[in-house]
Amino acid sequence: MRWITGGGAPTYGEIMAQRTILEFPDPRLRTRARPVTAFDAALGTLIDDLFETMYAAPGIGLAATQIDVHQRVIVIDLSSDRSGQLALVNPEILAREGEASTEEGCLSVPGIFDEVKRAAKVRVRARDRTGAVLERDYDETLAVCIQHEMDHLEGKLFVDYLSDLKRERIRKKLDKERKERSAHVAAPESRAHRAY
Ligand code: NI
Repeated sequence: MRWITGGGAPTYGEIMAQRTILEFPDPRLRTRARPVTAFDAALGTLIDDLFETMYAAPGIGLAATQIDVHQRVIVIDLSSDRSGQLALVNPEILAREGEASTEEGCLSVPGIFDEVKRAAKVRVRARDRTGAVLERDYDETLAVCIQHEMDHLEGKLFVDYLSDLKRERIRKKLDKERKERSAHVAAPESRAHRAY
């Protein structure tokens, strides 16, 4: 949980149940998630937090793994008005069809986009937040997104499909950006100390 500040933030003082998104190469992203066994209020809260964290990022999909919760839960919303919410619990792919190459990005690998080949259509069985079973066919971006998020539950990232060389370059780039970000945060504080 954290406070939201800056442009577009909700009313000052409002607590949002946003969680911190782990970033590559954090080893916790490599954890294999456990199936959900209790369809209770805690699961509902986890799903709500996943949506809030995803919208704030902003992103179109998020897996529980990415917020360091190792349960088999993913959320997706491709709409621009929060009307396309899809929360899948214990998702399984029953069938795959065709092949599609799509430029993907990931909230755990910020600012990086690259082509990944996946099945064009998938038949998915999952449970919703109440425990009800749903079985559906998905295609286009939803199919890609579901496969991407389900990979997270296995501890897999889209950069794993790229060459070792590319992945290493991405790791170095993100590392450099994180260092720059922390340097920017530290700068005003040190000036404040001097002003004192
Ligand atoms: Ni991702």
